[in-house]
Amino acid sequence: MQTRTPLIAGNWKMQKTIGEALALVNALRSNLSNVKAEIVVAPTYTALSKVAECLQGSNIGVAAQDLFWEDFGAYTGAISAPLIKDAGAKYVIIGHSERRQFFGETDVTVNKKIKAALKHQLIPILCVGETLAEREGNLVQQIIEEQVSRGLYQLTQVELKDLVIAYEPVWAIGTGKTATPAQAEETHVLIRNFIAAQFSQEFADRLRILYGGSVKVANCKELLALKNIDGALIGGASLNAEEFSAIAKSVA
Ligand code: PGA
Repeated sequence: MQTRTPLIAGNWKMQKTIGEALALVNALRSNLSNVKAEIVVAPTYTALSKVAECLQGSNIGVAAQDLFWEDFGAYTGAISAPLIKDAGAKYVIIGHSERRQFFGETDVTVNKKIKAALKHQLIPILCVGETLAEREGNLVQQIIEEQVSRGLYQLTQVELKDLVIAYEPVWAIGTGKTATPAQAEETHVLIRNFIAAQFSQEFADRLRILYGGSVKVANCKELLALKNIDGALIGGASLNAEEFSAIAKSVA
């Protein structure tokens, strides 16, 4: 059995000016120098390079929140893997439900973006998750398996070796509703089994699967203690240094 290093990632979404971002990471840097988890923050594009610079030599990595699949060119408003890499990103979040909901992201574009990230040695954090209607319609397994298989279409486990998957039930994001530990663990097991069937048991055992959706100090211990939950992708609670630090420190 593999041991998986827990990963605690903060997704700041469209929040924090450069000044606010630097204040937050300076606080995190001193709070989190001794934690057992790997820590990642995902600032806005405008703060990315300053945040990465500020975190140099620390144990905190930087992620971008999205990318476009072309490297360069006439794509007004887009940002590419080489550009975010140049700004200091090591990870990139791909297929977040807000991108799917508000920006027309599909499993096909997710797949193109994962390929672009891998081409430039960025580690993808692939987000998957069902809506409330899909959960109530008993479609969780079907939806998750579709998102995973289409998102990873034509990729090998060698190419995907550092992949991270984040399970984020759409109905739990920013709503204050969290999946129960049993619901979260059940879906993480489903994802791990599906990966084992599609790739190999060895790859599935190594794969880090994060839980996301209203993770906060009050519920993190219970969720992070579960066998198949290897960390968290945190929105709201990652905007506050004390709260995010307390969650990261709760990793045993
Ligand atoms: P939340 O967001 O923690 O605010 O629910 C999680 C996410 O969208 O990654």
